[in-house]
Parts: sequence; structure tokens; C-alpha cells
Amino acid sequence: FNVPALRNEPVKSYAPGSPERSELKKALEEARSKLVEIPQYIGGEEVFSQNKKRVSPPHDHQHILGYFHEGNTEDVKKAIDSALEARKTWAVMHWEQRAAIFLKAADLIAGPYRAELNAATMLGQSKNAYQAEIDSACEIIDFLRLNVNFLTDIYKQQPVSSDGVWNRMEYRPLEGFIFAITPFNFTAIAGNLPAAPALMGNVVLWKPAFTQVYAANVIMKVFKAAGLPDGVINMILADGPVAGDIVFKHADFAGIHFTGSTKVFQTIWKEIGENIGSYKTFPRIVGETGGKDFVLAHKSANAKALATGLIRGAFEYQGQKCSAASRAYIPSNLWDEVKGYMLADLAEIKMGGVEDFSNFVNAVIDEKSFDKIASYIEGVKNNPDDAEIVVGGTVDKSKGYFVQPTIIKASKPDYVTMCEEIFGPVLTVYIYDADKFEEIIPIVDSTSPYALTGAVFAQDRYAIQYATEHLVNAAGNFYINDKPTGAVVGQQPFGGARASGTNDKAGSVLNLLRWVSPRVIKETL
Ligand code: NAD
Ligand code: ALA
Repeated sequence: FNVPALRNEPVKSYAPGSPERSELKKALEEARSKLVEIPQYIGGEEVFSQNKKRVSPPHDHQHILGYFHEGNTEDVKKAIDSALEARKTWAVMHWEQRAAIFLKAADLIAGPYRAELNAATMLGQSKNAYQAEIDSACEIIDFLRLNVNFLTDIYKQQPVSSDGVWNRMEYRPLEGFIFAITPFNFTAIAGNLPAAPALMGNVVLWKPAFTQVYAANVIMKVFKAAGLPDGVINMILADGPVAGDIVFKHADFAGIHFTGSTKVFQTIWKEIGENIGSYKTFPRIVGETGGKDFVLAHKSANAKALATGLIRGAFEYQGQKCSAASRAYIPSNLWDEVKGYMLADLAEIKMGGVEDFSNFVNAVIDEKSFDKIASYIEGVKNNPDDAEIVVGGTVDKSKGYFVQPTIIKASKPDYVTMCEEIFGPVLTVYIYDADKFEEIIPIVDSTSPYALTGAVFAQDRYAIQYATEHLVNAAGNFYINDKPTGAVVGQQPFGGARASGTNDKAGSVLNLLRWVSPRVIKETL
């Protein structure tokens, strides 16, 4: 069939009095008033265990939303067996049948499951309504729908034939199963990492982060409601190293689709390397990892646009975005004006639970993240010669894991908060001599090992061209006069290089190509 035309799901506004706002409020109340038991999904069965772990909102950690049922090595083995059994029919199913399932899943999220999935993301991951809408409605819908367009683009790529010689390319799924490991911070990534390989005919074991299981459970319900056959995507809730120990030694392990920290990806890569002789095929290794994303301003930049870009880029979703603006290089001529705009904006911003839609900043994901972020802030207080806090710096974990949006001014460009991924609402600025733009560029390029996103703000075309050319390897997604966050599926395919991952561009043909192993067939008279 002709697949629906490329289009992005429109973002709903949740304006006061709108029907979507009442529906979402109702879903939030319902979710808060009941306890959910979250199972593993293995071969289509809901699997419960004796090992139950509590799920609570990060902004209200004494409230209990439910429990997830942790899995063990036996569950992982069963999930692999179920996946391989399902592969017998799924791998040969016509692509139109597979596509129809994921298009239906997208429509279910766009319609009947939208409020439930958004409410789950808001409560489970402490995202406000607008950020949940962009993530767990629009972005996941876009991944599911647009991947079908990308699949047809791939399948159309066929070799040349001639009279009496017919050549064709078959885009076979990989021989074995795929392991999808997903992070806490995006429901859309949690959905896309198992769905993209499955769309291409693969079977999958999916291990979500324990801090994201509340919304992950709703995604599995959607896949089931869309008619995904049993065993094609199995959601296992075993601890990462426990699952990895079985998966990475299995002969049928055919690929990893990972998003998370650089350190964990390095561990996984090592494990795969150590077991490389035991696999039937060379596994595909796809990983999108950490970032220390920069904003570089030129003296010609528009100060107001720059300040807005910094506030949104650094503090939306509490800075828990791999793409978050976390280090900024501001020319000395603009600093006072930019600071003024940022302080004015921050004075308006409210922090609190997601149930109050006027709160822009919510809680960070858990106590471990809170303590890590707090220690960087504490470090500034203990090193007054190297850095100072411009605004913020207050933290409080009594009710939820709240960190006030914090701006640090570093007196040297390699101060620790300019280099390391903090993954919280902390922006560090370094003020450079406005006449030394060309000298700051190698510092931007080399200060951190990451290369995920970056932005340049300038009105001067020479400066834009210079930064674009000289920072060619510093970011996989580069923005001119915009914040370095908010890539839209199909518009800005997303991914970084260096320590930020394999740059296989989620939401594009490039990613889907990693999940096929083409066979060329020549036929003659
Ligand atoms: P994390 O690395 O702590 O965890 C990611 C996943 O790996 C989780 O499911 C976790 O349980 C699992 N895991 C941990 N140890 C494992 C092991 N030894 N074997 C197998 N699995 C294991 O990351 P997180 O805290 O959930 O997410 C934040 C990180 O993700 C940040 O570094 C952020 O930059 C990155 N991220 C990157 C992108 C991107 O597109 N580049 C997008 C989102 C998040
Ligand atoms: N894709 C997300 C962004 O660009 C992470 O902000």
C-alpha cells in the first residue's frame, strides 16, 4: 500500500479549558489513585515475580504509583527463546503487515492512549505536560509513522537489471535477536529502540530503565493492542548486567540498540568484544550516548534570542536531555545583557510537581542523580577561585528531588562543570574576550570528549561560517541561532559522534539500515 505521507504529529497546547487538558488531568488523577502492577512481557505472557520494586513520582517520592516485577536470568533466557520462536513467522511476514501494526500503534497513541501515556511519563519521569506531550505523544508517534516511510525508501533501493538478467536486493532482518536497552529520560526513545528493528522484521528483547518502567508498561499495552504478535518484542525487567550476562554470551545475539550513558555503552561494547567468537554473525552495535552540549555566541549575537535559547536549552526537562545546553561561551560585550535577560526569565519560572501545569521545572529522576548534581553545585561553593554561582544553587530532596535551575560562571574554560556531563539543570558559562572568537573555537572543540549537539549564535555571516567549518566534528546536530535541543523526527535526524555514540541518526533511513542484512539475488533466463 501507499504509506501515509511524511508529516509530524501536531503538538497539543493543553491550554486552560481545552478538552485535552481536562482529559490529561483526569488521567493523572486516575493514575495517582490506583496501584499498578507492572509485569515483564515474555512471549506475549505477563510475567509477575516475587521480587517487587516500588515506583514513585520523582517529585513526590513518598507516593506509591505501583510496583514493577523484577526479572532474573531464567526470564531473560525464556525471553530469548520466545523471541527466536516468534522470528520464524515474523521475519517472513510481508512488510505491509508489519507496517500496519506500527502505524496502528501510532494512531492508538495519537488517540485513545495519548492521555494515559502522557500521564505515565509525567508521573513516572517528572516531565511537565508540555514536555510529556512532545516526548510521549508527538515524538513516539513520529518515530512509529516515519519509520514506515523510511522502510519504503530502503526497499525501493534496487540494483540495475538488464535483458535476461534480473537482479534484486532482499532486505533481510538480522539472523538472531536484537537487544534494545533504553534510558530513563525519553519515553519516545524507549518506544523507538525496540520498534525500529522490529519494523524491519527483527525480534527484540527490550530492557527499559527501572526509572522509566511506568510509561514503558503503557507502550507494551499499546503494542499488544495494535496486534503485535507474541514474542516479537519482549519487555524484560532484569537488571542491566544480569540481562547482559545472558544476552552477550548467546550465539543468536545479532545486535544492540542502546541509548544511555557513554560508560555503560563502553562496558557493553567490551562484553560483546570479549564474546565475539561465540556469535553466528557480527552483531550490529548501535549506541547513542552522553553529551556536554555547547552554545557558542559571537559578539554579533542577538542577546535576547541567546538568553532564551540558553534558558530553554539548559533547563527544559531539568536539563535531563542528552542534548541539553550545559556549557556556554559568551563574549564579554554581551554578558551583562544576556545575564539580565536570563535572570528575568528565571525569576518567572516556577518549580514543583507536574500536577500543577504552571510549574516549568519539576524534579530530577532519582536520589542518585540528585546527589550527583548537588555535588557539582557544592564543588563550586568550595572553589570560589575557579567558579561562582550566578543564580540558583539550592537543592531539596525532602518531598521530591528538586534542584533549582543553576547558572555557574567559570573563570577557566576547563573547570569541571564545563567538561563533564552533569545531567541536571546546571548551565556553566565562560566569558571570553569578545575580540577573540577564533581563539575560543579550539577550546569549544576540545574541552569535552562528547560531540552530540552544539549551537552558534551570531548575526555575522563570517562568524557563522567560521564556527560551522571549524567545529565540524564537535557535534552530530549543529544549530545556528537556535538552542541545541528539540530535534524533530524527520526534520533533524539525531545522533552524535566521538564519545556521544555511533551516530546512526535515530529517526532516519540510516538507523533502519542497521537492522537489515541485504541479500542480492541474480536470476537469468
Ligand atoms: P544509563 O547508562 O545509566 O542507563 C541506560 C540503560 O542501560 C538503562 O536501561 C540501564 O538499566 C542499562 N544498563 C546499565 N548498566 C548496564 C549494563 N552493565 N549492561 C546492560 N545494561 C545496562 O543511562 P540513563 O541514566 O538511563 O540515561 C541518561 C544517559 O543517557 C545520559 O548519559 C544521556 O546523555 C544519555 N542519553 C543519550 C541520548 C542520545 O540520543 N545520545 C538520548 C537520551 C539519553
Ligand atoms: N532528541 C532530543 C533533542 O533533540 C534528545 O532534544
